[in-house]
Amino acid sequence: MRELTDSSLPDARSWRRPNDTAAQLRQFGHASDDRVACSSSRWILPALRRQIVLKMLGLTHESCPLPIFECQGEPMPSVEWNRAAWSQRHGWEQHGDEWSGMAAACGQPYELWKESLVETFLASSLTPTSDVLEIAPGHGRWTEHLLAGAGQVDVVDINQECLDACRARFDDDPRLRGHLTTGSSLAFLPTRSIDFVWSFDSFVHMDADVIKGYLNEFARVIRPGGRAIIHHAGIRPLALPLAPATRRLGVAGRVVQRLAGQGRLRDSGNRSMVSRQQVAGWAGQVGLTVERQTQSWGDRGQHDVRKYGDWITILHQPAAAG
Ligand SMILES: C[S@@+](CC[C@H](N)C(=O)[O-])C[C@H]1O[C@@H](n2cnc3c(N)ncnc32)[C@H](O)[C@@H]1O
Repeated sequence: MRELTDSSLPDARSWRRPNDTAAQLRQFGHASDDRVACSSSRWILPALRRQIVLKMLGLTHESCPLPIFECQGEPMPSVEWNRAAWSQRHGWEQHGDEWSGMAAACGQPYELWKESLVETFLASSLTPTSDVLEIAPGHGRWTEHLLAGAGQVDVVDINQECLDACRARFDDDPRLRGHLTTGSSLAFLPTRSIDFVWSFDSFVHMDADVIKGYLNEFARVIRPGGRAIIHHAGIRPLALPLAPATRRLGVAGRVVQRLAGQGRLRDSGNRSMVSRQQVAGWAGQVGLTVERQTQSWGDRGQHDVRKYGDWITILHQPAAAG
């Protein structure tokens, strides 16, 4: 794999390490955001107290059925949060295959769910001469399948660690090129150079400006007749205007936000405050056609991405695009 870094971009590894207190909270199995723990010492004692109560009850943060044991502040998934989350905090135990919860939530074995996702959306979009772009490959969970069917694969991530992991995993494949980006720029790709764009489990954590930035770039780099398939958050539109107010209301506010936006009592999955209607609207504004938006697939619709209310949007570059 060639050209994995762009030296003109800031080094992702310069992002500061979480401080000791945040690391201690994580040792307790706490899922809080390091930024919150680092910057808000007033949360630390209550958070430790909550952990002690959970230990006494024999529960973990994840297994507790009530939202009252939450640490302060579910993070807003900014670029900085994404950079820290996927380079320092996540362990990548199975290189992405540890995220099996979506399959479990629709009652499907993970391997079957993954195979069906690959067959339905990814393999059917590729030919041996396709030039493919994957946004946010992580450790290459889907890249493996893109390389199996395409001619050339460009992968773009904000974390150098992820690009390095892809390089190590697909070391001898000269068809793979990695690029470090700062947010949503694809400046390293020529106009009309890509046939197919793929991204899964990553746009779900990107804020509105980053998504709009990428859609704008897709409109430039995708060839006429080409497509993009993107998995993203799907917060219910009525809940979006509540966010500024519920954010100020602590645990109660977050519960209201999750119930209204995702129909969930706890654990938002760190989804960004973006609806499927917004994604369709932003794509239309830059000239991409929305072919379809779906949450499920399979002959009985048995596979889905509904756990956190997500959607998959299929976009098409009109043949007339210049
Ligand atoms: C949850 S992981 C998913 C990785 C992979 N797509 C998978 O499904 O296994 C999120 C990935 O998104 C990347 N990421 C987050 N924000 C990004 C952005 N604005 N541009 C490019 N990559 C980003 C992270 O570095 C990480 O690799």
